[in-house]
Formats: sequence, structure tokens, C-alpha cells
Amino acid sequence: MTHRVVLIAAAFAGSSALAAFAGRRGAPSAEPTHTVWDSVYTATQATHGDSLYKGTCVKCHGATLSGGDEGTPLVGPAFLGNWRDLTLDQLYDKIRTSMPPDNPKSIATRDVADLVAYLLSQNQFPAGAKTLTDSVDQLKDIKITTSRP
Ligand code: HEC
Repeated sequence: MTHRVVLIAAAFAGSSALAAFAGRRGAPSAEPTHTVWDSVYTATQATHGDSLYKGTCVKCHGATLSGGDEGTPLVGPAFLGNWRDLTLDQLYDKIRTSMPPDNPKSIATRDVADLVAYLLSQNQFPAGAKTLTDSVDQLKDIKITTSRP
């Protein structure tokens, strides 16, 4: 059972790496024009993300998002250190293509965007009037920075 799950997970990881490669080839490498400090999601999205999180993610990543035996932290310096200077499409893709590990690609893209919004809120980035998109091209334009610019 465990081995089968690992094999399936490996197959998914392989195909998503290929897709990511294909997607990046030829794409213009413009510098992002926004950061996560620019109020890039709404409070409503974060609230919806919270309920999705409680349904699907909490058992591994914990009620305070600080991780546990089965999942890594999704808040704090260790988490932000992994994502600093990357762009939101990468965090979005990570969730879309690999979470939850036993059923990747099962979450609708709008819901993945709301989960990203929830993670941003829990990491103290500000909410605002703009809805966070599920368009990878637009998410590429938002950089993850840890200190307020
Ligand atoms: C069965 C346990 C499990 C569930 C359920 C799960 N995760 Fe994970 N998650 C992990 C593990 C283990 C890792 C670390 C390995 C990896 O990065 O793939 C991880 C890594 C992550 C990362 C990357 C963390 C980093 O520091 O780079 C994110 C983001 C994430 N999970 C989000 C989610 C979200 C959102 C959900 C719910 C939709 C979810 N996970 C459900 C186990 C789980």
C-alpha cells in the first residue's frame, strides 16, 4: 500500500516537473512587478481557504500550520525561507500538483488560489480588495518577499 502511494506520487511529481519545464520554456522572464505586500488577495478568499485547509490539510500541517509528524510548517521563518524571492505561481503549483500527497491535482484551481490566500494571511501578509487569481501567468508577477518593501 505505502509503496503504491509512493510510486503514484513519484509519477505525478515527474509529470508536473515536465509540465513546469514545458511551461517555462520560451516564457519572457520579466521581473515581477508586485510583491505579497501589495494586498493581493481578499479576506473572503482567506476565509474560504481556511475552511478548505481544515477539510484537507490540517491533519498533516496542523491547526496552527506549524507542522507535525506528517507535514512541514506552512508559517514562519522555515517556510518563508523556502519560498523567499520566488513567485506565487510556484507556491500555487506546489499545492496544485502535489497536495494533498495522496490525491494531488484533486483541488479546483480557484480553491488552490484560496488556499494560497489563506497561507498568505497566516504569514501576516495584508488582504485587500483584489482577488488572487488562479492564472499562473498573473501569479508569476507577484514575488514572495519576507520584509515589507
Ligand atoms: C498526508 C499529509 C499531507 C496532507 C494531507 C497535506 N500535506 Fe502539504 N506537505 C506534506 C509533506 C510531507 C510536505 C513536505 C514534502 C513536500 O514538500 O512535498 C508537504 C509540503 C507542503 C508545502 C510546501 C512546504 C514548504 O515549506 O515548501 C505546501 C505549501 C503544502 N504542503 C500545502 C498543503 C496544502 C495547502 C494542503 C491541503 C490541500 C496539504 N499541504 C495537505 C504533507 C501533507
